Amino acid sequence: MELKQLFEAYAIIALAAIIAGVYTVYQFFFSPLARIPGPFIAKISPTYYTFIAKRGRIHRDLANLHRKYGKAVRIAPNVLSVIDPTAFREIYKAGNRFWKAESYSVLQGSRPFDLAGQRNEKIHSEQRKLVARAYSMDSITYLEPQVNSVLVSLVNRLRGIRAQPIDLGYWIQLFAFDTIGAISFSKPFGYVESGDDERIFLRLRKAFRCIGWIKHSSTLFKVHQRLMPYIGNWLASNDRNTYFFELASKEIQARTNRDGDFKDIVSQLFSVQKAKPEFNDTNLAFMMTTNVFAGSDTTSTSLRAIFYLLLKYPEKYNRLMEELESKRQAGELSNPVTFNEAEAWPYLQAIMYEATRLYPAVCDLLDRDVPEGGMTIDRYYVPGGVVVGTSAWVIHRAQEIWGPDAEEFRPERWLEKENEGTMKRFFFSFGGGSRTCIGRHISWLEIGKLVPTLLMCFDMRLANGAELKEEHGTLLFLDGLEVYMTPREV
Ligand code: HEM
Repeated sequence: MELKQLFEAYAIIALAAIIAGVYTVYQFFFSPLARIPGPFIAKISPTYYTFIAKRGRIHRDLANLHRKYGKAVRIAPNVLSVIDPTAFREIYKAGNRFWKAESYSVLQGSRPFDLAGQRNEKIHSEQRKLVARAYSMDSITYLEPQVNSVLVSLVNRLRGIRAQPIDLGYWIQLFAFDTIGAISFSKPFGYVESGDDERIFLRLRKAFRCIGWIKHSSTLFKVHQRLMPYIGNWLASNDRNTYFFELASKEIQARTNRDGDFKDIVSQLFSVQKAKPEFNDTNLAFMMTTNVFAGSDTTSTSLRAIFYLLLKYPEKYNRLMEELESKRQAGELSNPVTFNEAEAWPYLQAIMYEATRLYPAVCDLLDRDVPEGGMTIDRYYVPGGVVVGTSAWVIHRAQEIWGPDAEEFRPERWLEKENEGTMKRFFFSFGGGSRTCIGRHISWLEIGKLVPTLLMCFDMRLANGAELKEEHGTLLFLDGLEVYMTPREV
């Protein structure tokens, strides 16, 4: 190499080192977030956030970070994880000043109708109004017979299984997926009947896993999408808007071709179409894609957590069985248990809240952009444009809110009226504000019916050494719910 070339190479390296040095000094001493604590690497590179999102235990990583650094932690140069109660309330209160952050654009892709991924609050609010009724409490009675049919076939199938212990978690997931088919298209997918998911759960999990990290690398995502015609699809996250969209579209078409008086979400959305033609077929298909994509793993995680905790703590199980017995004696117990009956069981409701508090199905930060004018978090001023978010897993364990026993499974806390208001304000399993989960009544319907119905029909015992294995990728997945189930006389 000639001297001149050598000199040029050194000059380039020196320049790069100076730029990196200036950037690092800026992030550490002059950035508006410079005073907010966090891991060294997180202050200078977004790869730290992507890394913890990808390794599958972000909920526990974030909890550890908050234990070490306090109520606000800088987890990327421009991103803060927050568990300060006042700031939490400000970010997620009803109203829509805090828009969803850039990470959601990866989720949305090119979908024109996407409640979960839509960042523009005005468009979101118009879209949500169109479909809200179909998911409201009023719809629950209308949809309940669909849930009954899947629940009855689940109980019958479980009664027939001789090999013990049973992977109850898997059967619960089959139930949750079939129920989404039943309430959406009046047609369960037939997974409970066959006892097999045709590997669709793995496909869903891969897509969620991928979304979990790629959403923090939106540039990489955009480059991939551009190159896709040449390099093919390398991202399972794209399944959401392709494979699952096609699945939903096919089911809508099949449902349209069948005759009958259907009581399902599609029929309610057809009525919306008549009144509002702008809600076209593609929009309807995208909405149904969300049902298929977001409606089953979430419910199944919650159910797995409920059964695991109930079976792990026999005194809670026994207390719930006493409630069941008293309802039976009062003649207030149907088979399957009805939604209205379940709503009137205080201890059952307490268990549902408590288990989903400890194991929220979504434990990621729900990222939001700080609006113009900024905000104060803990003792720090945070300017507009910074991304802030809270993880349900972490805020649900904050002793300041839940007391010194925050980590304990204690359903009784939900029966203490004096704390009820605070607990409900910080209960974050279904998100918050204008972006609260639209499907929460549906999942509460499923959970409220399935838990007491199974307890009524089976004696259950956790298999020796059964422990939940956690994996996080957009959602929290819980494996390992092995249970001995003995049919009871009903
Ligand atoms: C236990 C079960 C469920 C849990 C824990 C859950 C959790 C959540 C959470 C935390 C959000 C807020 C996400 C964010 O702010 O980024 C959300 C939004 C959403 N969920 Fe659920 N979900 C559940 C069941 C369902 C079901 C059954 C459906 C559909 C049938 C559904 C559809 C949606 C939709 C469409 C949104 C976006 C709402 C909006 O932004 O307007 N979810 N869910």
